[in-house]
Amino acid sequence: MSISPGYFITFEGIEGSGKTTQIARLAAYLETMGHHLITTKEPGGTEVGLKIRELLLDPQTVFSSDLTEICLFTADRLEHVHSVVKPSLALGKTVICDRYVDSTYAYQQGGRQLSGILVDSLCHLIDLRPDITVLLDLDPEEGLRRAKSRAVLDRFEEETLLFHQRVRAMYLSRAAAEPDRFIVVSVASASIDEVFVRVIEGVLSRLT
Ligand code: TYD
Repeated sequence: MSISPGYFITFEGIEGSGKTTQIARLAAYLETMGHHLITTKEPGGTEVGLKIRELLLDPQTVFSSDLTEICLFTADRLEHVHSVVKPSLALGKTVICDRYVDSTYAYQQGGRQLSGILVDSLCHLIDLRPDITVLLDLDPEEGLRRAKSRAVLDRFEEETLLFHQRVRAMYLSRAAAEPDRFIVVSVASASIDEVFVRVIEGVLSRLT
């Protein structure tokens, strides 16, 4: 099966949903099919973004307003889209990105409860929509348990279960509103291989 190059594929999901593993597997799979691709992430897909990421994830960071936080995610995205994502797509590369604009809706609108109008206005500063978004769906209780077993918690992983439940709910409502773009894969009781099969099936069905 041949796949058109230059697709923009994003992965979304709460902490512990296994995006990193699935991204690596999808990238390897598409490469064997002849794709030229890059994998990247937000926040932190550029030099500037790495500095912004440090600030955003550091548990010691205290912002006086949630607006500061969303502005930093937006700044990170502007840098990333203009200097990495768009130039790669223009070269015909497929770009697989770990988190993108749906994270802002899920975490800043859902989690932080910022107004939808505000989030829309900032997100609309970036005029690039993913072709495909894979949402790895998981109960936050399980996701946080997995995240906690791995490493020191970052500023978002330290948030309450309720916060993460709102994040998940916002993801699911966005996926329901855009079924053509989203592939929702439930990861709770599936093995890594089973999840990957569903990811591949979903991606291939949208690329052809
Ligand atoms: P990261 O370590 O990349 O998380 P993960 O490994 O779970 O993908 O941390 C990124 C954190 O930033 C994650 O908790 C989600 C959050 N985030 C937002 O709140 N808004 C955004 O727009 C983005 C891109 C990320």
